[in-house]
Amino acid sequence: MTQTTDSVLATIPSPCFVLEEARLLQNLAVFERVQKEVPVRVLLALKAFSLFHSFPLIRKTLHGASASSVWEAQLAAEEFGGDLHVYSPAFRHEDMPAILAYASHITFNSISQWERFCPLIKRSPSPPSVGLRINPQYSPVETALYNPCQPSTRLGISPEYLGQSLPEGIDGFLSHNLCESDSYALEKTLLHIEGFFGHFLPQLKWLNLGGGHLMTRQGYDVAHAIEVLGAFHNRYPHIELILEPGSAIAWETGFLLSTVQDLIPTPTLTNVMLDVSFTAHMPDCLEMPYKPVIRGAHEPQEGDKLYRMGGSSCLAGDFIGDYAFDHDLSIGDRMIFEDMMHYTMVKTTMFNGVVHPSIGILRKDGTFQLWRQFSYEDYRARVG
Ligand SMILES: Cc1ncc(COP(=O)(O)O)c(C=O)c1O
Repeated sequence: MTQTTDSVLATIPSPCFVLEEARLLQNLAVFERVQKEVPVRVLLALKAFSLFHSFPLIRKTLHGASASSVWEAQLAAEEFGGDLHVYSPAFRHEDMPAILAYASHITFNSISQWERFCPLIKRSPSPPSVGLRINPQYSPVETALYNPCQPSTRLGISPEYLGQSLPEGIDGFLSHNLCESDSYALEKTLLHIEGFFGHFLPQLKWLNLGGGHLMTRQGYDVAHAIEVLGAFHNRYPHIELILEPGSAIAWETGFLLSTVQDLIPTPTLTNVMLDVSFTAHMPDCLEMPYKPVIRGAHEPQEGDKLYRMGGSSCLAGDFIGDYAFDHDLSIGDRMIFEDMMHYTMVKTTMFNGVVHPSIGILRKDGTFQLWRQFSYEDYRARVG
């Protein structure tokens, strides 16, 4: 954990998403190593982390970005540069001209989408390389909400729908089946791809192995991932390997700072009323669900005073808990929710019109720089 001094914390407006530069650089160093030791191109998945003020740092290491919509594609083209892989579960006809202007690679989720847009692509002045998303028939993800290979999935083409040969004009495959996964799940994915789609591999120019490779989590066996990717490369040297992680880039690279507004006692616990909302600002806590780490808090032990963190919306379930602290909490205390960079800012809403967290960066020299503050006008522009 970066040691943030109380004096710097006190200068940060509340609430605020704070990116920690030193930690982002640590994560990028992991991908720098991977790209150095094995021929693989790593992209940033914007759906997980789109904080474009940080892109100048990230693009020193990564080769480009992956986008899942025309707006993400435009943001990547404007702010990131480099390779741009665009995949959407269902492209809209009206978005295609802009996407074709930005994309270096485009991946279709079905043969019918490919057939629908193939004439447009052929007429494009600089057509992107085209791929299909496959369903590798394996995912280690147990939570259905995050399992792209669940029965009757709408994501990716199963082998029986591809026949014996690829349609003309298809250069690559995208396989996204992992989520916060390890190198052994990557190894198994490659085995499944070879097992179910092996007869297509001689025709491919590239294979995008999607996201979910949590190489920056403590304990991830990076050397094993390098070995697995290297062995695949040796078997298929003509295939360019691509990874498009999101979470792993922004993993544990920052926090959401909030302030205690009220303390409401009940017979069993104290509700801590915050100026942030779980449903609006940390939705994965409720969707996944999981209990975020709070700096300075611990799991309650027998006899501890219990604190439940309450969000600022009126949703009855907008709370997470319970936590214990080694001191009594007071109104005005700052509460720091760790690891709040990936799948937070990209998913926030202005539900209830709650004040939207600002965004800033804690530089590696310890100074804080505010990047964005939101206003009533931003709220008004969202709702009508
Ligand atoms: C196609 C695709 N690529 C990449 C990602 C990024 O995954 P992660 O943030 O888990 O690395 C996702 C996440 O849903 C995805 O659907």
